[in-house]
Amino acid sequence: MSHADEVLDSNPSTHPTLDDVIQARAQGTSRREVLKGSVGFMALSFLGGGAATLLTACGGGTTEETPGTPSSPAPVRPAALGFTAVAKSLADAVSVPAGYSVQVVHRLGDPLAASLPAYSNLGTDAAAGFAYRVGDHHDGMHYFGLDASGKADASASTRALLAVNHEAITPSFLHPAGQTIVGGVRTVPEEVLREFYAHGVSISEIQKGAGGWALKQDSAFNRRVHTLTDMVLSGPASGTSYLVTRYSPNGTRTRGTVNNCANGYTPWGTYLTCEENWGGYFRRVTATDNANRSAKELTALARYGVAGAGRELWGTVTPDTPDDLYGRWVAEVKGASASEDYRNVANTYGWVVEIDPYDPGSTPRKRTALGRFAHEGAWIGKVETGKPLTFYMGCDSRNEYIYKFVSTALWDPADATGGLAAGDKYMDHGRLYVAKFNADGTGTWLELAFGVGNVSASTPAYAFADQADVLIHARLAADAQGATKMDRPEWGAVDPVTGAVYMTLTNNSGSLRSLAATDAANPRHYNDPRTTGAAQRGNPNGHVIRWMETGATSFQWDIFLFGSRAGSDPASVNLSGLTADNDFSSPDGLWFSRATNICWIQTDDGAYTDVTNCMLLAALPGTVGDGSAVTITNTDAGGATKAVPTRVGAQPGTRLRRFLVGPPQCELTGLAESPDGKTLFVNIQHPGEDTPLADLGNPSAWPSHWPDGGTARPRSATLAITRNDGGPIGL
Ligand code: FEO
Ligand code: CA
Ligand code: CA
Ligand code: CA
Repeated sequence: MSHADEVLDSNPSTHPTLDDVIQARAQGTSRREVLKGSVGFMALSFLGGGAATLLTACGGGTTEETPGTPSSPAPVRPAALGFTAVAKSLADAVSVPAGYSVQVVHRLGDPLAASLPAYSNLGTDAAAGFAYRVGDHHDGMHYFGLDASGKADASASTRALLAVNHEAITPSFLHPAGQTIVGGVRTVPEEVLREFYAHGVSISEIQKGAGGWALKQDSAFNRRVHTLTDMVLSGPASGTSYLVTRYSPNGTRTRGTVNNCANGYTPWGTYLTCEENWGGYFRRVTATDNANRSAKELTALARYGVAGAGRELWGTVTPDTPDDLYGRWVAEVKGASASEDYRNVANTYGWVVEIDPYDPGSTPRKRTALGRFAHEGAWIGKVETGKPLTFYMGCDSRNEYIYKFVSTALWDPADATGGLAAGDKYMDHGRLYVAKFNADGTGTWLELAFGVGNVSASTPAYAFADQADVLIHARLAADAQGATKMDRPEWGAVDPVTGAVYMTLTNNSGSLRSLAATDAANPRHYNDPRTTGAAQRGNPNGHVIRWMETGATSFQWDIFLFGSRAGSDPASVNLSGLTADNDFSSPDGLWFSRATNICWIQTDDGAYTDVTNCMLLAALPGTVGDGSAVTITNTDAGGATKAVPTRVGAQPGTRLRRFLVGPPQCELTGLAESPDGKTLFVNIQHPGEDTPLADLGNPSAWPSHWPDGGTARPRSATLAITRNDGGPIGL
């Protein structure tokens, strides 16, 4: 059973994209003109790279963004990358450039409490102990510095709390012989309990000593947040009827978090973990439950993909416990009212969740003002005293949207140590918007508020009742406002040098991504043939879009990078001119170092895996608009063509370089650094995840034994990467 790149697609809305406009403009655009445009943009790219006002940084940029400290030097971009590109690889290993070293900081199962034994990695470790072990599928991550006395210190580079998301599990390696399922039912509660704990977030103390970075097993800060952790539902939807469950009859709390994908962090020292493709975990047998639901509820449940047996069949365990350990995963009408069952439980998932890593006893808060969707992550734009805070967010499913939340409260540096109370101030009150990308390179933020635009009690597809309804069903509100469907928004990042916002659009193919579905912001439809010749049509390699805000609700955008195999058609596929040193597919993780201002890009790929495992690349971007307007001519399987005008950023040349390649079937994800820029932390998620259950008894057949080698089961893990001469990473 493979969970690779799990995605729930449930956007059937047919509101017009910009397709008609583009088609009209594209009439008569010849292939010759397209090629001419491409050559022009290639010439411009050289100017773009050279004209950018770049100064040598070498660690001289700002460290952690410390709001309200005017003495911080203005961030600058390094003049060049300082390492030799790593070759593409299919090896069961982590490859880094010469002069760099890699160390494993923690792996699935490593103990986070003094009394726990080392992980057997045979699937036999007691489930209860898993509440204090590192979880599976390491994902988004952040470094929270600690000073010598154990206080928060944003400049501490040798002691920290590492907050790591544990998005999902590789079931075949988590138990003795995979999941025990009899007739569609989980029959071993011990296995299910182990899975409950293996998801969520770990907070662990790490320290740097003579031997490098080490996990502090007995730290009082060590903590697991998982699917059993009590959570507060905060913000405008809290306490509304939509969130009433048997667990919380007044709709103010829920239990657990799941599918914690990417992340974010706040200027007040808290961690944001984001609930991504959570809809599939709930069991809802439509054949019986649909009859008990209103038409409005059915629309909402379908739009969020809450239907089916449940991804891990957690709701099938019987008998249940008095506190509904298993029944809380059954999103069906069972009782006489919502406070007697879990019909609304799915409404308590799909949020940005705030955790205070420095306070192990604190209760995480789900921030409902930021909307409910398949949250990849939440990234705050430039922090300025006296101005609102802006959170950028993507909804990772095919044809979903990009959102932003703007706080009502204006930033006050006195809140920098405010913890969750500061979260209440900045994240519970504000405005939610969704992005519309126009063909002319401009964009508009459309507000999602009850009574604004097409969002009201008379919205045809879904009659909204109030603002809580809008936030809980943000996807439906975004449909109504005419947002632009994107090629799967993954990570975002804000460039400290220019203030531009970058977001990866990992890939999009299949029946939902036809030639007709292309538009200016999602402009390619092509075939990326595997070495076997198997066709992969649509946008299998993905791209990275970026924009600069030009007003409160307007922006200017272009496409920073297009994923591609080197050697693909430069006019319709390899528009960024990628070479053997930097070609990649399916960008996902994205992050700017605050020490070096390097942009780091990670891949989560299934398209180019005939040639290489997933990878990490370093980039030195220019500015939005440093390339040119280009018209791409797309061709589908039947030979039909469509010309799509778009905005292509300057080609990166040597300013984009492959830094690391991971082991087979892994995803590179999670990015954090020590504030001195001398340690880069990244995660290797699910190496060998597609190992067939039938091969479990034959380790020599497994694609990966990373990181332990020999005949060991592969494990997700966090890496610390350092330079042998102690210098900053990447320069
Ligand atoms: Fe969990 Fe969007 O990847
Ligand atoms: Ca993954
Ligand atoms: Ca992905
Ligand atoms: Ca991801």
